[in-house]
Amino acid sequence: MFQDGLLKDQTIIVTGGGTGLGKSMSRRFGELGANIVISGRRAEVLDETAQEFSELGINVLTCPGDVRKIEDVELMTKQTIDKFGKIDNLLNNAAGNFISPSEMLSPNAFKAVIDIVLMGTWNCISTVGKEMIKNKKGNVLSIVTTYAWTGSPYVVPSAAAKAGVLAMTRSLAVEWGKHNIRFNAIAPGPFPTEGAWSRLMPPGFDDFEDNMKNKIPMKRFGERHELENLASYLMSDGSAYVNGEVVTIDGGEWLAGAAEFSDLTKLPDSMWEAMAARRKKK
Ligand code: HXC
Ligand code: NAP
Repeated sequence: MFQDGLLKDQTIIVTGGGTGLGKSMSRRFGELGANIVISGRRAEVLDETAQEFSELGINVLTCPGDVRKIEDVELMTKQTIDKFGKIDNLLNNAAGNFISPSEMLSPNAFKAVIDIVLMGTWNCISTVGKEMIKNKKGNVLSIVTTYAWTGSPYVVPSAAAKAGVLAMTRSLAVEWGKHNIRFNAIAPGPFPTEGAWSRLMPPGFDDFEDNMKNKIPMKRFGERHELENLASYLMSDGSAYVNGEVVTIDGGEWLAGAAEFSDLTKLPDSMWEAMAARRKKK
C-alpha cells in the first residue's frame, strides 16, 4: 500500500511496542524505514521483539521502563536521542485495562489504569514534547478507543482515561500547532490480542466473542494490517496537515450501537420484500 522508505530517517517511539498492536505497528513502521524505539515494563519481552525486528533489518532500540515513572520516561527520551540523534514521532500505545463492576473497584485498581493510560501518556508527551518543541517539529499519535466518547460500563477507569487522552490530543493540537507539532488519535474497535482478550473476555462466557462480532456491521474483528496501514499513514509526512483528528477503525461498531434502527439489520430480506409487496398492493 505504501512506497518503500515512506518513513525513512524517522525515529518513532512506541510505548508498549513489545506486544500486541504496538508490536504490529512498530514492525510496519520499521519495514517502511523508520528507526524504532520500543518501551514496556518487561525487558525480556522487549528483547524478544527487538530480536525479531533486527532479523527483518529494522533498526531498533529497547527502553525497558514504566510510563508511570517520569524518570523512566526521561531515560527513554535520552537513550533515543543518544542512539538516533532525534525523536520525530511518538506513539502512545501502552495501556492497562480490565473488566470489573465499578462498585468492586478498589481505589488502587482505579488509580492503576488512570496512571498508566492518562498519566503515562502525559509523562511521555510532556517529556518527548520538550524535545519536539526544541526541534520545531513533531508528530504524536495516541491509541484510544471508541468508548473514549461513548463511555462504557465495566471499564470505567479505562473509559475515563482514554477520554482524557483524547481531550489532551485535541487541546495540544491547538496549543502546540505553533511549534509544528501535530496530535492525532486512532480509536480502534476490537482487534484480538493476548493482552486485551485475557483481561476483557469473561472466562466461561463462551458466546461473548460471537456476540461482540455480531454487534459489528462488518461481522468481524479488525485485522492487524488494517490498523498498521492507518497508523503508518498518520505517522508519515503524507498526513502532515491532519491535526487534532481521531480516526475510528471499528467496522462501524460504535455507530451501530448508537443508531436508532440498527436492529433492523437483523430483518431477513423476505420481510422487506413482503413489506414492499403490501405497500404496492395498497
Ligand atoms: C479488579 C483488579 C483487576 C481486575 C487488577 N486489579 N486486576 N481489580 N479486577 N481484573 C487491581 C489489583 O487488585 C490492585 O488493587 C490494582 O488493580 C493494581 O493491580 P496490580 O496488579 O498491582 O497493578 P499493575 O501490576 O500495575 O498492573 C496493571 C494492570 C494489569 C492494569 C492491573 O492488568 C496490566 O499490567 N495491564 C497491562 C496490559 C493491558 O491491560 N492490556 C490490555 C489493554 S486492552 P489493590 O487494591 O488490590 O492493590 C485495551 C482495550 C480497550 O485497553 C478497548 C477494547 C475494545
Ligand atoms: P497489550 O498487548 O496488552 O498492550 C499493552 C502494552 O502496554 C504492553 O506491551 C505492555 O507491556 C505495555 N504497558 C502496560 N503498562 C505499561 C506501563 N505502566 N509502562 C510501560 N508500558 C506498559 O494490548 P493491545 O491490545 O495490543 O493494546 C494496545 C493499545 O491498543 C492500548 O492502548 C489499548 O487500549 C488499545 N486498544 C486495543 C484494542 C484491542 O481490541 N486490542 C481496542 C482498542 C484500543 P508491559 O506489560 O511489558 O509493560
